[in-house]
Amino acid sequence: MNSLRLGIVGLGNMGTQHYQSITQQFVKRVEVAAVCDLDSGRLSKVSPEIPCFSDSLEMIKSGLIEALVIATPHYDHSTIGEAALKNGLHLLVEKPIAVHKNACQELINAHLRRPRKEQVFCAMFNQRTDPRYQRIREMIGNGDLGNLRRMSWIITNWFRPDIYYRSGGWRATWRGEGGGVLLNQCPHQLDLLWWLFGTPTQVWAQCRFGQWHDIEVEDDVTALLTYENGATCSFITTTGETPGTNRLEIVAENGTVIADDSGLRMLKNSVPISEFCRNTDQSFGKPAVEEVEIPIDGKGGQHRQILQNFVDNILDQTPLLAPAIEGIHSVELANAMLLSTFENKSISMPVDGDRFWRHLEQRIAHSSYQKDAVTVAVDAAAMNKSY
Ligand SMILES: NC(=O)c1ccc[n+]([C@@H]2O[C@H](COP(=O)([O-])OP(=O)(O)OC[C@H]3O[C@@H](n4cnc5c(N)ncnc54)[C@H](O)[C@@H]3O)[C@@H](O)[C@H]2O)c1
Repeated sequence: MNSLRLGIVGLGNMGTQHYQSITQQFVKRVEVAAVCDLDSGRLSKVSPEIPCFSDSLEMIKSGLIEALVIATPHYDHSTIGEAALKNGLHLLVEKPIAVHKNACQELINAHLRRPRKEQVFCAMFNQRTDPRYQRIREMIGNGDLGNLRRMSWIITNWFRPDIYYRSGGWRATWRGEGGGVLLNQCPHQLDLLWWLFGTPTQVWAQCRFGQWHDIEVEDDVTALLTYENGATCSFITTTGETPGTNRLEIVAENGTVIADDSGLRMLKNSVPISEFCRNTDQSFGKPAVEEVEIPIDGKGGQHRQILQNFVDNILDQTPLLAPAIEGIHSVELANAMLLSTFENKSISMPVDGDRFWRHLEQRIAHSSYQKDAVTVAVDAAAMNKSY
């Protein structure tokens, strides 16, 4: 049986989890053939027979690996990613695929110019494996819901205490991370927003910077998105409250769908809203409603399923669940929300990448933020439970 030789760059919380998933054989037909980290302490934790590098380009060019997983801080995703693609490797890049739209485009261009057509380009959007979102996507695609009217996503269970932000000098700074909750925790929900509902026409947002933590980037966001068919979506997120909520509600002609921690259900209208509205002769009438539980089994295979899907796509051409070229959309939504706050106005999509980059550059240049960073041990297991 073929076994894919894979390298991992970045052995922090996420990279360590990927390393363990492969070395403990939760992912089949793949072996860790090399690893890379700037921190020699992190390299000292890997099995002695695995070659270690401190320079990602050396690992990429070593001939030891056919595929690469990038789990470094976000800014390096596009630069290391471009080098991997240029040197003929298959690539699985952590979310976000880059910090801003222009960098996403450069990474995608490197994929378009790849030397070998069969090179696979995948992103770690593990929440696409959650059966609740897969079922919603199916229902929208089948036309079961009818025209969408209003979406609302409250995703406030991304609580992070101060110590999280102090671990790793890169976190929660414009220079090191390029954003806060929109770039680190919410790329998952922003990806799902795009995956389920497409690109909005307008984005308005109020991002609050360091609202609940001593950080310079956003940790609290309220946004309003408008879609071509007139539907709107309110999107609320923060890392500052607990226990928090993860609730997606979709109001459509044929009823309301709710995805939350209790599962997935639909409140089905006996008659589509607009038809009832036009035809009823009762001033206070409403269509009859039936509540239907939609059976859902678990949360999907998450990170391990995406890793397996990446391997299976390379070895057997199994369709990719999360092609990395689609990763530009969640970054563009995050950029639009920040841009709307920077300019205090609604942003028409698509986002002007140069305009966003100029704002980000200025924030980096004018930052006077002093970080009191601490060293915290990698906790891949705790992180695994945090989605
Ligand atoms: N898919 C998910 O659910 C999920 C969850 C957590 C983190 N992530 C993503 O994973 C990435 C890393 O996050 P983390 O929490 O593991 O960070 P971390 O700080 O714990 O780990 C990053 C590691 O990368 C190393 N590193 C930094 N720059 C490097 C370079 N140029 N070359 C080699 N090594 C380098 C650091 O020394 C560190 O060990 C982020 O982009 C984050 O968004 C994804």
